[in-house]
Amino acid sequence: MAAFKGVDPKMSQILLYIKTIIQISHPHLTLTSMEFGFMTILFSCVFFLLLSSCATLDTITTNQVFRDGDTIVSDDNMFELGFFSPGKSMNRYLGIWYKKISMGTVVWVANRETPVADKSGMLKLNRKGDLQILGADNTVIWSSNSTVSVMSNNPVVVVQLLDTGNLVVWDRSTKNENVIWQSFDYPGNTLLPGMKYGKDLVTGRERVIIPWKSADDPSPGEYLHWLDTNGYPQMFVRQGSVIRWRYGPWNGRKFQALRMENPNPIYSVQFVCNDKEIYFKYELKTSVLQRIIVLPDDTAVHLRWMDQTQKWVVHSVGAVTEICGGYGLCGPYGSCNANRYPPCTCMAGFKPRVPDEWDRGNGSSGCERKRALDCGSGLGFKRISGVIFPDTRHSWYNHSMTLEECEMACRMKCNCTAYANTDIRNGGSGCLLWFDELIDTTENDDKQDFYIKLAASEFAEDRYALDKKDNNVRMEDLDELPLLSLNKIVKATDNFNINKKIGEGGFGPVYKGVLEDGREVAVKRLSETSQQGIEEFKNEIICIAKLQHRNLVKLLGYCNHRNELILVYEYMTNKSLDLYLFDETRSSMLDWPQRFNIIQGMARGILYLHQDSRLQIIHRDLKAGNILLDGDMNPKISDFGLARKFVGPDTATKTKKVVGTYGYISPEYAIHGRFSIKSDVYSFGVLVLEIVSGKKNREFCHDDRNDNLLGHAWRLYKQGRSIELLSASLCASCVILEVLRSIHVALLCVQNHAKDRPTMLSVVLMLVSESVLPQPKHPAFYSEETSSELESVSSVDGSLITHLYAR
Ligand SMILES: *[C@@H]1O[C@H](CO)[C@@H](O)[C@H](O)[C@H]1NC(C)=O
Ligand SMILES: *[C@@H]1O[C@H](CO)[C@@H](O)[C@H](O)[C@H]1NC(C)=O
Ligand SMILES: *[C@@H]1O[C@H](CO)[C@@H](O)[C@H](O)[C@H]1NC(C)=O
Ligand SMILES: *[C@@H]1O[C@H](CO)[C@@H](O)[C@H](O)[C@H]1NC(C)=O
Ligand SMILES: *[C@@H]1O[C@H](CO)[C@@H](O)[C@H](O)[C@H]1NC(C)=O
Repeated sequence: MAAFKGVDPKMSQILLYIKTIIQISHPHLTLTSMEFGFMTILFSCVFFLLLSSCATLDTITTNQVFRDGDTIVSDDNMFELGFFSPGKSMNRYLGIWYKKISMGTVVWVANRETPVADKSGMLKLNRKGDLQILGADNTVIWSSNSTVSVMSNNPVVVVQLLDTGNLVVWDRSTKNENVIWQSFDYPGNTLLPGMKYGKDLVTGRERVIIPWKSADDPSPGEYLHWLDTNGYPQMFVRQGSVIRWRYGPWNGRKFQALRMENPNPIYSVQFVCNDKEIYFKYELKTSVLQRIIVLPDDTAVHLRWMDQTQKWVVHSVGAVTEICGGYGLCGPYGSCNANRYPPCTCMAGFKPRVPDEWDRGNGSSGCERKRALDCGSGLGFKRISGVIFPDTRHSWYNHSMTLEECEMACRMKCNCTAYANTDIRNGGSGCLLWFDELIDTTENDDKQDFYIKLAASEFAEDRYALDKKDNNVRMEDLDELPLLSLNKIVKATDNFNINKKIGEGGFGPVYKGVLEDGREVAVKRLSETSQQGIEEFKNEIICIAKLQHRNLVKLLGYCNHRNELILVYEYMTNKSLDLYLFDETRSSMLDWPQRFNIIQGMARGILYLHQDSRLQIIHRDLKAGNILLDGDMNPKISDFGLARKFVGPDTATKTKKVVGTYGYISPEYAIHGRFSIKSDVYSFGVLVLEIVSGKKNREFCHDDRNDNLLGHAWRLYKQGRSIELLSASLCASCVILEVLRSIHVALLCVQNHAKDRPTMLSVVLMLVSESVLPQPKHPAFYSEETSSELESVSSVDGSLITHLYAR
């Protein structure tokens, strides 16, 4: 801060007192300075004793002459007003500084641009309430230009320095001491506690902060900090006429880009936004003295006074002056992230306007829509998380609307481009609508979302794996699902400790974790390298977030942090079915009643997927490894990464990329890429045969024949020897009729032609009823009869396997 060269404050106070007293008691008497000096020595001892216990003067009246060297001091002795010279300057300025502490820290300057060249300056208060600084020949150097006129006929106008540091001109003749002028309305480079920063909408007065030119020169520097009240209020900084930074709007706790903890123990903040005024201010909570100052280089610092060291220390530095601080760096619909190079990307649904420039790292021309918005119909909203909102100068707001009302409002207004809550507290409230281009969006870690309007066709693409004709599923559906912070997940898994790893899914590792509330969870982390997995992973979130059934594994939450995608599931104590079925010792732990329960549970789970859920989903990857078991050995279907939504029960969809797991995929899917709900029925049939026999379909080999498990089961069935398929370990616990029924149903499910296979509803009913079952036809991939299908299978087999996920 600027150094201070004044007079000894105590001495000047005493002198002023002496003068005043002499003038009051002997108004005709004038003293030469020598006489005065002599008297001073005479009286000073006496007055010193008196004054040190007495209150010092904090007021100047209209009769008084206040010269360079005179001062007044606030009642609590904290602030002092007088003339001073900053730094190396010889110019004289009228200012307010701390008196009790930190001598010379100036907090306000009156005549910033019009210094007095020498010590001839005088402060006068006229009867109209104007404060004036007069120069040598009584020329007015500075005037407060009070706009409020004196109300009473016999005004008693005084200027008083308050304990807050506010210099106030009052009319004391009126009952409620009306304020004619106050220095707090004209902040300089410093925001003191209680000072309003913002706009008075009645008078139109703006309270802005303008740093000094330099430590020696308090005249306004090139930067200006203001609260812009166009649209939703935001804090801005400009240099000359160019906008440099934007601190974004108030979010209920702070200005988005401002580094500020709120609530915090040492000060409280207030943002008032009504039809009379819009302002920000802070108040001290404790006795720790504080001030916010903007330095000549535009650094905004919050300082607090340390009594022990008698120094101002930096409490926080205000600006996020990183790469992304530059206003509009990534242009319209661009998004800036300082941790990325180049820092600019386009928002979802947008592409670079000038790709060449963009590739060279210049994002200023921004992005344009991939698909034009059609107001009449077909639009949706995409949530963008963790950002400093785009510029809100072309926005509209209402503090009492809900997010739903807000979305509706944005939907109805054709030129609305995005919406958001205004206030993040208590789960979010208020409505903010953007019109026009979205510019100057910066990614940060705060959880504050907004929703951009896109053409409906964008969502079809986004949900690549879901049926494009249907727009029921949106990323917003995830709102029903808790978003967990990465921090929480890191804690829960002991920072993804290798010892906590319980498996390796198709997309990456799975860890066991314990949430803060004690719940055990399985944490599935998309490996950063597995780019191909991202789409499947997203698909899984969208699918499963909507599903709730006792035979489906429950998704508890998710985390989408930068490049991390993490799903958190309920933890399944007894892991997955394959660990029991195909392991010699563990297979004895699953007796027949448990197995039959698993078969029925699976059937009900798949039925729910196909028919009862809100979405109607084909799982596409049913296999023993995806059937998890809870503490009571109840089955829960998991892994919806490949699931697809379908329309109508008989619709078959064609795909080029055949995915699934070898051994469980149906022939029509493997060969022709056609899948339907009957593909899942097929996989279910295979699973049932595996559960009964304890053998893997894909690894099955019979002593004398080149049979797979299905062929083997079929042959035994034809010969009336189905019971021989049963694993020896189950003999003791089995119920023969249930076993035979399960095998029969399974054979119906694995029939070669999809149209012959039952629906899951029939399967569920057949398993529990005692009705006569239809005769199955031969299963798929059955190698005894020579069929054209079979040949085609072997011919495509090699290339087929490369398309399958090796799991
Ligand atoms: C007061 O008014 C005069 C004359 O209009 C102007 O020159 C001066 O800058 C004003 N003073 C302040 C502090 O605004
Ligand atoms: C970026 O491109 C714009 C034109 O679109 C140009 O005016 C600007 O100077 C470029 N900035 C840099 C740093 O090259
Ligand atoms: C804000 O929204 C509420 C609730 O929808 C409504 O009652 C109120 O009139 C709105 N205020 C303005 C200024 O539009
Ligand atoms: C939006 O469009 C409406 C008319 O549809 C118009 O009255 C309004 O001024 C527009 N607002 C902006 C910010 O363009
Ligand atoms: C399954 O989990 C429960 C609860 O943790 C445990 O008591 C039981 O022994 C487990 N069963 C098997 C077969 O591992």
